[in-house]
Amino acid sequence: MYGLIHNSLRAMVKTELGNDAWAEIVEAAGLSEKDFLSLKSYDDSVVLALLAATHKTTGRSVNDLLYDFGRHFIKHTAFGHYSAVMSMHGSSVWELLDSLNHMHDRIASSFPDYAPPSFQLLGSGDGSYELTYSSTRQGLTSFVRGLIAGLADHFSVVIDINVLEDACSDQGQITRFSLKAIEPT
Ligand code: HEM
Repeated sequence: MYGLIHNSLRAMVKTELGNDAWAEIVEAAGLSEKDFLSLKSYDDSVVLALLAATHKTTGRSVNDLLYDFGRHFIKHTAFGHYSAVMSMHGSSVWELLDSLNHMHDRIASSFPDYAPPSFQLLGSGDGSYELTYSSTRQGLTSFVRGLIAGLADHFSVVIDINVLEDACSDQGQITRFSLKAIEPT
């Protein structure tokens, strides 16, 4: 994965646990680099090793870490450096979820040969949606959950997120989510 992802994870860990904890995590992951180049692609094993080492240091499950990381990524990376790109692709959670493929396509010139996921959003007309996430990777469902929650946070809505189906194969993973905005009471 591109170093953009590692740098976003590093920012989250440093904010929550401090610089020393990050240095320990990098060492425990068996890596020599503390900094990553956002526009350089690293083997997926690097980010997985960082997550495993963060789990060991914090005792938090990898899925919980991925969920928090998804929310962090939306707040600090997507709506940070890339806020213009985000704004160009929608002004609501649903518009953005509907244009994720287009958005990942548009930024492909910065990330040559990358392997972003693909998404399909289907609305049922009653305010509930079905989102299908397809990836060449496995194990990132909690990250997607966090990303959706992060988008909801950004637009000050609460979304009930449920997994309808989750299928892994040699080709990667496909997860079908049901999403429904919860009305404030
Ligand atoms: C403008 C903001 C964004 C940028 C610059 C961006 C860029 C990237 C990059 C560089 C990767 C790594 C892919 C690779 O190295 O092969 C990635 C992965 C990913 N992106 Fe985005 N992204 C953005 C917004 C989003 C949003 C809003 C979502 C969903 C709500 C999303 C979902 C994902 C997921 C789930 C992955 C993990 C890879 C996988 O599932 O296989 N991204 N993105």
